[in-house]
Amino acid sequence: MKTALITGASSGIGKAIAAALLKEGMAVTGLCRSVGNLPPGVSPLPCDLRDSNEVENAFKKVPQLDVLVNAAGLAYLSRLSDGDPRHWEEMWQVNVHALSLCSHFALARFPKTGGHILNLGSMSGHRVPPSGGFYASTKFAVRAISEALRSELKESGNRTRVSSLSPGFVDTPLLDRYFAGRPAELQATRESIDMLTPEAIAKTALHILTSPPEVEINDVLIRSSTQSV
Ligand SMILES: NC(=O)c1ccc[n+]([C@@H]2O[C@H](COP(=O)([O-])OP(=O)(O)OC[C@H]3O[C@@H](n4cnc5c(N)ncnc54)[C@H](OP(=O)(O)O)[C@@H]3O)[C@@H](O)[C@H]2O)c1
Repeated sequence: MKTALITGASSGIGKAIAAALLKEGMAVTGLCRSVGNLPPGVSPLPCDLRDSNEVENAFKKVPQLDVLVNAAGLAYLSRLSDGDPRHWEEMWQVNVHALSLCSHFALARFPKTGGHILNLGSMSGHRVPPSGGFYASTKFAVRAISEALRSELKESGNRTRVSSLSPGFVDTPLLDRYFAGRPAELQATRESIDMLTPEAIAKTALHILTSPPEVEINDVLIRSSTQSV
């Protein structure tokens, strides 16, 4: 039986991917703080990704892995000119540093034949939305890290695959924080876009993770057919 560890499996996209991989017959571990919100059947691995020691200790409890999905992440619309630097710090810790740490520790637990890492990027890693500059910088970093790791692994003959998925708006609790204090903007966005569901993202994640071993899907941009940018 294949084993998968999914960060952020307690909500939104990570939760939908965890449910899809369980259905696929994998043994799934969910790393997050709110372990009570994991889908039934997912083994809990409590961890606050802002704390590097906690991440290292959590991985010590994971003997072996085939798949790592780095889905944990958060987004504040926090401007560089007048936003809250504590928001930038938290986004950087979880979206970039913890994603890199989890990838680092997962590599040592993959089989010799290679594992698979799937990173959640964003359309914000492909263009910079107004007021979302710092969040975008974390997602541009996810793209750079995914490509850097991919090429490092190829150079050393490691068959582990590195993929990323870059969604547009997906209807999850993340949007409440993203649009905090801007209810009219959230409402206008909801009215103008038929947002993607986490299940639609999970379907694409499953396609990526079940592709034949010689196929490495590197980045998939996925937007609602009603989202213009
Ligand atoms: N929703 C969108 O429109 C959208 C679009 C593009 C990309 N994305 C990306 O997709 C990924 C998933 O987002 P989502 O929309 O599914 O968000 P979500 O519903 O808010 O879920 C976020 C997940 O991240 C985990 N997390 C956050 N901070 C954490 C911490 N300090 N330690 C451990 N876990 C932490 C949360 O778990 P706990 O709170 O239980 O710890 C939760 O499971 C993110 O990387 C996001 O940037 C989302």
